[in-house]
Amino acid sequence: KKVVLAYSGGLDTSAIIPWLKETYDNCEIIAFCADVGQGDIELEGLTEKALASGASECHIVDLKEELVADYIYPTIATGAIYEGTYLLGTSMARPIIAKAQVEVARKVGADAVCHGCTGKGNDQVRFEGCFAALAPDLRVIAPWREWEMVSREDLLAYLAERNIETTASLTKIYSRDANAWHISHEGGELEDPWNEPTKGVWIMTVAPEDAPNEPEYVSLNIDQGRITHVNGEALTPYGALTTLNDIAGAHGVGRIDITENRLVGMKSRGCYETPGGTVMFAGLRAIEELVLDKTSREWREQVGAQMAQLVYDGRWFTPLCESLLAASESLAKLVNGEVVIKLYKGQAQAVKKRSPNSLYSEAFATFGADDVYDQKDAEGFIRLYSLASRIRALHTK
Ligand code: ARG
Ligand code: SIN
Repeated sequence: KKVVLAYSGGLDTSAIIPWLKETYDNCEIIAFCADVGQGDIELEGLTEKALASGASECHIVDLKEELVADYIYPTIATGAIYEGTYLLGTSMARPIIAKAQVEVARKVGADAVCHGCTGKGNDQVRFEGCFAALAPDLRVIAPWREWEMVSREDLLAYLAERNIETTASLTKIYSRDANAWHISHEGGELEDPWNEPTKGVWIMTVAPEDAPNEPEYVSLNIDQGRITHVNGEALTPYGALTTLNDIAGAHGVGRIDITENRLVGMKSRGCYETPGGTVMFAGLRAIEELVLDKTSREWREQVGAQMAQLVYDGRWFTPLCESLLAASESLAKLVNGEVVIKLYKGQAQAVKKRSPNSLYSEAFATFGADDVYDQKDAEGFIRLYSLASRIRALHTK
C-alpha cells in the first residue's frame, strides 16, 4: 500500500512513480532523497517534481556530515581501495542511503522500498543487501528487473502517454553518480575502453594539462586517522572534504579511469573523480609511514584489502565490517600528525610530514654511531635469517 522510493528526480525514477501506482494497485508513493552532497542542481525543485509525478510526499534527508564522519572516514582509515585505484565513492554512500530510506519507511509505516538501480550493476546488490540486514520484513521493488522498458525512448514515451512533464531529453550521455566524495561517469562513448574520455566527461577536476603552472601546498592535521584541519583551519568532516575538493580539483587531482570487475561478474568501464579524497589518502599514508612499524603496516594493508571488497560488495551492515573497523580504529590511534601535500598537474604528493608518534629517527637512520643499533648484531641476525637458504644450498651441492 505504501512504498518509499529512492528518488533522484531523473528520468528513471520519474517514470517509476506512475509505474508503481499502475503495477501495485494504486499504492501511495513516498519519495525519498538522500542529500549526500551531490549538489544543489540535483536537489533544486525536487519536492515539486516528485509531487507532480504523483508522489504524495517527498522527504529530503541531509546526510552530508554523517556520510563523511561515519562512513568515509572509517573506511579510508582502513586504506580501502578497490582494484588498485577506485576510492569507492559510490559504494561508501550506499549503506547510509539505504539506512535513511529504511528510517523513512518506518516513519511513514511503509510496507515496501523501491530503487531505480538497473539489474546489471552493483548498486542493486548494495541497496538490497542493506535492506536485508536492516529491515528484512520490507518488500523490495526493483522496477528495472520487472518492467519491459529498456531505453530512454521507452521511458520518455511512457511519461508522455501519461502527460507527466519531464525536463529529461533523449540524449543523456553518461550515467553519473555524485556525492561529496566523488562523481562517477559511465556509459556513452566510455563503454568502449579504446575511447579516451573527452573533456566533457569531467566535472570536479580540471584537466591536469590545464591546471596552474605553479604548485600549491595544502596542509592537513590528522587526529586518529581523521582530518581535523585544512591549512590550519578546524573543519567538520564534510567541511574538510569540500574544501579539499575545491583546492585539489583546481589542480586536476583525483581522476581515475578504470575497467573494473562488478560484483555481478561483468566488467564495466568508469571514470571517477575524487579530488579531496585523493589528498586525504595521501595525507593518511604519509603519517602511517612515520608511525606504523612493518608488521602493523602489513596488517593495515590486509584490513584495507578486505575492507575494499566488503564495501564494494555492499556488506556494510555485517559483523565482518564491525570487526575490520575495530582493527583499523585501533591502528589509527597512532595516526596523528601534520602533513603538507604538494598539488601539481594532477599529482598530490606528501612533501612534509611529522607526528608525535613517529618511529622514524634521524639519529638511528644515520650512518654515524648510535646507542640502539650495533652493526655487529646484524651479522648474527643475517646468518640466522638466511640459515634455511644456506642449508638448502649445502644439501643440493
Ligand atoms: N562502478 C562504480 C561502483 O560500482 C560506480 C557505480 C555508479 N552508480 C550509478 N548508479 N551510476 O561503485
Ligand atoms: C546501475 O546499474 O544501476 C548502476 C551501475 C552499478 O550499480 O554498478
